[in-house]
Amino acid sequence: MKYKKYFRKTSLKQKKHSEFFLNEILKKKPKYFLEIGVFHGVTARNVCELLYKIHKEDFKYIGLDLFEKSEENKSEIIPNTDFKNPLKQIYFKYIKRQDPYSLEAVNNLLKKFKDNVHLIKGNSNLILKKIDMGKIDFVFVDGGHDYNTVMNDLNHCKEVINLNGTVLCDDYNLSYAPGVKRAIDEFVKNNNFKCEIICENRFAKIEK
Ligand SMILES: C[S@@+](CC[C@H](N)C(=O)[O-])C[C@H]1O[C@@H](n2cnc3c(N)ncnc32)[C@H](O)[C@@H]1O
Repeated sequence: MKYKKYFRKTSLKQKKHSEFFLNEILKKKPKYFLEIGVFHGVTARNVCELLYKIHKEDFKYIGLDLFEKSEENKSEIIPNTDFKNPLKQIYFKYIKRQDPYSLEAVNNLLKKFKDNVHLIKGNSNLILKKIDMGKIDFVFVDGGHDYNTVMNDLNHCKEVINLNGTVLCDDYNLSYAPGVKRAIDEFVKNNNFKCEIICENRFAKIEK
């Protein structure tokens, strides 16, 4: 399946990364998918399209994001949400009248799958402890990039891994966010999990 951009911004800009990502999902065929760090919802929409092809109505996508810049969130890295392309600025400001980095806009992008989708606005450091992780069989970790946040996110994924699920982390070796790699390496070592570093050090896949 081709990864579509839906006129928005995404982490998975390069074809080799988005193709690898969708192929991984196709191989694992998860029914309960969690994405930590949804941003504009482009990956979310692609995941839902693929899970619908595989399972029809029988899947769940849960997405979690701060969905706003605020004093409280200022220690987290939030990608630049402005577009270089002026047409996209105009489209969202005057036609959609939406901020693409908002819960409302992402719900709108995913409305085709509204019965399968649950989006949560909040900080993963507070929200993940309220989620029943025992049901989830695939997690895409792409939220906060500092060491403590990644470590918190991964610690909440232990149950998923122990129940034979997959945790795929983005930005394993990012020069400006070294905490991602440090947290993943420590987490894998401390728990004796298997970890594969894939796509030129871009992703870390953690399994039992
Ligand atoms: C790199 S973007 C995610 C990109 C998205 N996965 C994609 O494929 O297009 C990182 C996102 O994580 C969110 N984020 C950062 N810190 C977070 C936290 N502590 N809890 C939840 N979301 C967080 C940011 O708001 C941002 O939208």
